[in-house]
Amino acid sequence: MINKAVVSDIPDDELKGKKVFVRVDFNVPIKDGRISEDYRIRRTVPTIDYLVEKGAKVILGSHLGRPKGRDLPGLSLRPIAFRLTELLGRDVKFSPKIIGKDVHYEVDNLNNGGVMLLENLRFHIEERNNDEEFAKELASLADIYVNDAFGTSHRAHASTYGMALHFEKKVAGFVVNKEIMFMSSMLMNPLKPYVVIVGGAKIKDKIGAMKNLMEKADKVLLGGGIAYTFLKAKDVPIGNSICEDEMVPWAKEALEKYGEKIFLPVDHVVAESFENRKTSIVVDNEIPDDYHGFDIGPKTMTKYSSLIKGNGTIFWNGPMGLFEDSDFSSGTTQIARSMALATWRGATTVIGGGDTISAMRNAEVLDLEITHISTGGGASLEFLGGSDLPGITVLNDKN
Ligand code: 3PG
Repeated sequence: MINKAVVSDIPDDELKGKKVFVRVDFNVPIKDGRISEDYRIRRTVPTIDYLVEKGAKVILGSHLGRPKGRDLPGLSLRPIAFRLTELLGRDVKFSPKIIGKDVHYEVDNLNNGGVMLLENLRFHIEERNNDEEFAKELASLADIYVNDAFGTSHRAHASTYGMALHFEKKVAGFVVNKEIMFMSSMLMNPLKPYVVIVGGAKIKDKIGAMKNLMEKADKVLLGGGIAYTFLKAKDVPIGNSICEDEMVPWAKEALEKYGEKIFLPVDHVVAESFENRKTSIVVDNEIPDDYHGFDIGPKTMTKYSSLIKGNGTIFWNGPMGLFEDSDFSSGTTQIARSMALATWRGATTVIGGGDTISAMRNAEVLDLEITHISTGGGASLEFLGGSDLPGITVLNDKN
């Protein structure tokens, strides 16, 4: 059982007036400055609020997207400072700079209980490279380190790992603590049958975790781009559907080893292209050469829903198709609703990842209809796959 020190384990007098760096995961969908899903932001309010109440000076750091070291205005965290100001009911300062003397000046001038959000950490390439000097610079801003970014804890980056090494006190925030508690018991002792549903586009990011999950799960239901890579591995025609060709050999191996547990779509919603929207349903897995599969079809939905029953544990990560578009959202919506039904019937249901949370909202499934909504996509997969997450292992153990 992972047992990490939590922010509330620090005595009050050791927080008052202290500079506390909180790594948060504010990687949320933002378009034209508008935040369309703020679950990850709302979830950090208890930790920030706690530190404010204890009179700490709170410095928040996060990434947004993958700017690869470039200063991209569309990926600025400024809109999040506004949202956080609303959520906390107090002013949140925004620092366009991340390191350097201007930031030190701003931090030193924060009042006790003041909150400041730094610009997107990934505007510096050194963040992703876990650059030692950059990590040291970041660490020099604060006295105490808090990780409340569960969604990024599987990354050994400067702000999630490297900088933490420079602190004596490095603890979990309330988000990370709750995720650890819930996920640990699910990792060790999932109620059976254990059904895992994986969608989304990229296998490469998920391969290690998927291997382990395939071992542990009783059934693995695949959708989205991942399913097409597996269908190709079975020599099923997939037309122009999204597929990671270099992962086909891996998918073949997985099918040989775990074939009886793996369920794949048997029909699809297809179109010639995303722009050319004449959609049709293809049965018996015969996607024509010039067509793309953009969602699972009705037969697959019925099959998958019947496998998401009202007992055991069901873990879902990643949409079944291009759910952002109403023409291709039915499969994902159906999975979200089946998850809610399963919860009401007594199953332990867990969803993980930004897209999956957005999909759940689109389907009008309420938070209370899912047992645990994880703030981590890749991170929850890795955790439940049994991997150590560097952003968690680096923290102090309890006592
Ligand atoms: C996520 O959205 O899964 C996390 O914020 C991590 O983002 P990343 O995959 O770009 O590291």
